[in-house]
Amino acid sequence: MLILGIETSCDETAAAIIRTDLTRLASRRKEGEKIEILSSIVSSQVKLHAKWGGVVPNLAAREHLKNILPVIEASLAKAAIKAGDLDLIAVTNGPGLIPALLIGTNAAKTLAYRWQKPLIGVHHIEGHIYANFIEEKAKFPILCLVVSGGHTQLILMRNHLQYEIVGQTVDDAAGEAFDKVARILNLGYPGGPAIAEAAKNHQLPTANYKPTLPRPMIASKNFDFSFSGLKTAVLYTVKKNPKILKDKKLVTELCAEFQQAVIDVLINKTLSAAKKHTPRTIMLAGGVSANEELRKQLGKAIKKNLPDTKYQIPDKKYSIDNAAMIASAGFFRWQKMPAAKQKDALKNWNKLKTEANLKLR
Ligand code: KG4
Ligand code: ZN
Repeated sequence: MLILGIETSCDETAAAIIRTDLTRLASRRKEGEKIEILSSIVSSQVKLHAKWGGVVPNLAAREHLKNILPVIEASLAKAAIKAGDLDLIAVTNGPGLIPALLIGTNAAKTLAYRWQKPLIGVHHIEGHIYANFIEEKAKFPILCLVVSGGHTQLILMRNHLQYEIVGQTVDDAAGEAFDKVARILNLGYPGGPAIAEAAKNHQLPTANYKPTLPRPMIASKNFDFSFSGLKTAVLYTVKKNPKILKDKKLVTELCAEFQQAVIDVLINKTLSAAKKHTPRTIMLAGGVSANEELRKQLGKAIKKNLPDTKYQIPDKKYSIDNAAMIASAGFFRWQKMPAAKQKDALKNWNKLKTEANLKLR
């Protein structure tokens, strides 16, 4: 199967072509066989939004509109295939910024109609999760830690496309906290990579380490998170001692401490949820999964505490928003569809709904 994926939910315009070999998949009981990425084009608007300190929805839509067709054309050209060769189009239809989402979904609908291809809607977070199935197979049950700019969730999957949210943030998402703290420290947008880069230059002590920032909800009995208070703690630290902002070394130190506070909470909650739900695989997904320290430390903690549990992370280029992950999720959705529904998908292009708060189900 050849699948075109399209993603425009936030500030990246992305299109990708993937190839899946159905005959090989059938003989391997269809379980997450390696998917071949023929192309994955991402046009980032980061520079455009940086001067506003965050994503401006209508600006994002304008850029998506300008870029969507060139990006789709580039994905076909790089994959060296023609539109006629496609078997399926998969597009993110939520959650996200409505003006941004609509550019992707309307482009996908138009192309599905014009090219006479079936169309499938993909939940953005489902895409992030299925970035993990591009390179590898995974054994169920899976516990997935989703950490992005809009989501922080622990999701239990007993099988493909079955999601049980066992914990989530009660306020800010982890990525959002990175972005807000970066703004407080004048490190620019997006904050995650900026803080990670700064933190690299400060080694937190390994012995007698006394944290200066709180680890919110780390001792709570549930698997929920809270990051808003942590951001406020950074704000107060800077308000109490404004000289920090002028001292590169102190900013670096604060970045390392903040990053570690987030990681400590994420690891602690993931391990305790894993102890309760005993998954065979623990996965990491979403933009914050690009964080090198989180990738490393979570891996170490699993190896030490749950040595029989497999740890799986997406390739870094599929951690942040891209369309290969949307095509991958679209493939698994297509696989699970009864034949009659697959037929309907060809005529259903105009029924696809775009939803800012689409639920994962
Ligand atoms: O998944 P994503 O690309 O978009 C959303 O779906 O939200 O995630 C973007 C988020 C931003 O908050 C960004 O600051 C964060 O992921 N991020 C990182 C890193 N790279 C991106 N956070 C921490 N460390 C990173 N290296
Ligand atoms: Zn995302």
